[in-house]
Amino acid sequence: MASFVIHGGNPLRGEHTVQGAKNSALPILAAAVATKSKCVVHRCPMLSDVTATLQILRHLGCRVTQTNGCVEVDASTLTSAEIPMCLMREMRSSIIFMGPLLCAVGEATLCAPGGCEIGLRPIDMHVDALCALGVQIDEQNGLLRCTVPNGLIGARIALQFASVGATENAMIAATAARGVTVISNAAREPEIADLARFLNRCGARIHGAGEGVIVVEGVKTLHGAEHTVIPDRIAAMTLLCAAAVTKGEILLRGAAQDHMDAMRNLLERIGCTLRQFPNGDLALKLKRRLDSFPSIHTAPYPGFPTDAQAAAMVLASLANGTAIIKETIFENRFRHVSELRRMGARIRVEERVAVVEGVEKLHGAHVDACDLRAGSALVLAGLAAEGTTVVNNIWHIDRGCEQFEITLKQLGADIKREEV
Ligand code: UD1
Repeated sequence: MASFVIHGGNPLRGEHTVQGAKNSALPILAAAVATKSKCVVHRCPMLSDVTATLQILRHLGCRVTQTNGCVEVDASTLTSAEIPMCLMREMRSSIIFMGPLLCAVGEATLCAPGGCEIGLRPIDMHVDALCALGVQIDEQNGLLRCTVPNGLIGARIALQFASVGATENAMIAATAARGVTVISNAAREPEIADLARFLNRCGARIHGAGEGVIVVEGVKTLHGAEHTVIPDRIAAMTLLCAAAVTKGEILLRGAAQDHMDAMRNLLERIGCTLRQFPNGDLALKLKRRLDSFPSIHTAPYPGFPTDAQAAAMVLASLANGTAIIKETIFENRFRHVSELRRMGARIRVEERVAVVEGVEKLHGAHVDACDLRAGSALVLAGLAAEGTTVVNNIWHIDRGCEQFEITLKQLGADIKREEV
């Protein structure tokens, strides 16, 4: 078990190049299966979730090589369409292999995925969308056996909620369907548009990805392609918040500013000075205590991202005045609250609403990272706190933050990883 030990109080200063987006890289690597050819993915972050994805690809028979940020997946050697439970349970995004396997070989056998315990996270919308495309799913002892008796057939799919994963699975499967598929109430996250760009490079015909209605004209086959993953907006937002809570000054290189409007607006409203450069770089500076915090609620893109809610709560904990933060996407995404309270934060939770009374200072404590984004937020709290903070269970953080402590150290933080 590893922990981060943080001596708080150092303002973050310096520059950093933003990692590739985890939530783009994972579905793109899985989608490579659909091409049954060789794909090259650049700016692939080095994360344990990526390692888990590569393990699944290897298990399926793909040849995989990883050199720094470049991953080559040769899916021409695919030998299996079955993902064992131990690999499925590594992470939530393993469910995204359903669509690509159905495209490639017309079958997939897997079970419900694992991932952060931030809510029920059912897969009903994935299942309904794929069934609309002609997939037959038999469930036995927790195993889902998916087949396409009459091939994939284009359909109209109206998602009940703009689910990121269900949109991705439906979009990938539809690339190989006969005829046209229209996905309405589709998720509009930038990672969906990135996945569509990759698939279109592979010969797919997808229009409107990144908007509420996606139209996919099915094609006979996909081919291999090369693609560079977009920058990770959540990782960028996390570092901006880290600079803000430590009253620092940082420059993020390649920050995909356009994907962060909700967070940029919040940071500016609470007193941070942001500077955007034409090449995509983004700088943040803060010299004083954060101003009073407006009410925010999480929402599908372009709303305030649920993945940045915990980091925003650290900002609110140190801001002047009381903030209201409502979580609308996941039912169980306030697990960092009890840990922040141990550090002196004043937060009370009423169902999906957290009322945060800002305090002048947080103090160090022993806390548990209970999921990826909660864990990285606790690190931010530790950077700002007086004294020493120990964040345990940091394997959650390794799932999504590339070399987190190395990055923070380079920016001046006093943080080290300790194996217990
Ligand atoms: C993706 C992101 C995750 C982010 C989330 C919301 C990846 C790898 N992960 O997760 O970081 O927090 O989007 O922006 O891209 N739901 C159902 N049934 C389903 C599918 C989803 O009820 O079949 C519910 C979920 O329980 C949740 C909500 O819909 O309450 C949103 O989930 P979804 O958008 O699907 O999130 P993920 O794709 O799992």
